[in-house]
Amino acid sequence: MANDIDNDIAVLCQDVHRDFQDGSRVIRVLRGTDLEVRKGEFVAIVGASGSGKTTLLNLIGGLDRPTSGKIFVDGIEITALDDEEMAEMRRNKIGILFQDQYLLPVFTALENVQVPMLLNEVRAKERERRAMELLKAVGVDHRAHHMPHELSGGMRSRVALARALANDPAILLCDEPTGDLDHKTGGEIIRLMRDLAKKHNRAVLVVTHDPEVARMADRILLLRDGKLVEELVSRFFKPSGVDVTVARDPDSRSSAPTEG
Ligand SMILES: Nc1ncnc2c1ncn2[C@@H]1O[C@H](COP(=O)(O)OP(=O)(O)O)[C@@H](O)[C@H]1O
Ligand SMILES: [Mg+2]
Repeated sequence: MANDIDNDIAVLCQDVHRDFQDGSRVIRVLRGTDLEVRKGEFVAIVGASGSGKTTLLNLIGGLDRPTSGKIFVDGIEITALDDEEMAEMRRNKIGILFQDQYLLPVFTALENVQVPMLLNEVRAKERERRAMELLKAVGVDHRAHHMPHELSGGMRSRVALARALANDPAILLCDEPTGDLDHKTGGEIIRLMRDLAKKHNRAVLVVTHDPEVARMADRILLLRDGKLVEELVSRFFKPSGVDVTVARDPDSRSSAPTEG
């Protein structure tokens, strides 16, 4: 195989480890995580609380660096970049939709969506045109001039999604994006994210606890014992299948349920 990565691969993680120091104790969170996500793919990551899902998204998003291992985003080895190059990468290639990234309260929806474009020095006219187009794509253009507090939770999520897409990122990373939304609204947001991924050939990675969200994904990956394993959709839904809500003993991996 050639040295350069296949053009269709949006995210590639190779043997990624991430340790955290907790006083004198070392917590080994990621322990040889491998991942390959192709452009246009919508992948759900599930796993017990504390299994390292957010840690993994932070690494792929260039917000943190692995203890060892390589990460490529859109063909670029981000683990080899310096801080300045990494910041540029985040601005241009990576869209982030995390729950703790609230809209700026003193700006309208339209202005919030333009914030990432300010950093990229997009001209004012173009900025506003593009922001409006994005608000339209997520179905809230009729609220463009409203302040965040005048919008419902679902609408705010849509605006945040538009903002995450402002710089036309190659990958969109979402950490439990539907966490504080009602079921119906959450489903709509996810469907929207999936459609936007397909339409623009983006890779979308969503961390979720919600089986309904996971079911909409092209693939479900389970983070367990610091590694990602492919999870069958059917298994994820069987009552006797994997329960992602509780941590598991690494050695107690039960065999797949047998059914006639
Ligand atoms: N910056 C940090 N310093 C120390 N420990 C951390 C840090 N970030 C995460 N951890 C630990 O790593 C583990 C995984 O955390 P996290 O990635 O947030 O899990 P998840 O998102 O799957 O719930 C947890 O035990 C958490 O306490
Ligand atoms: Mg988390």
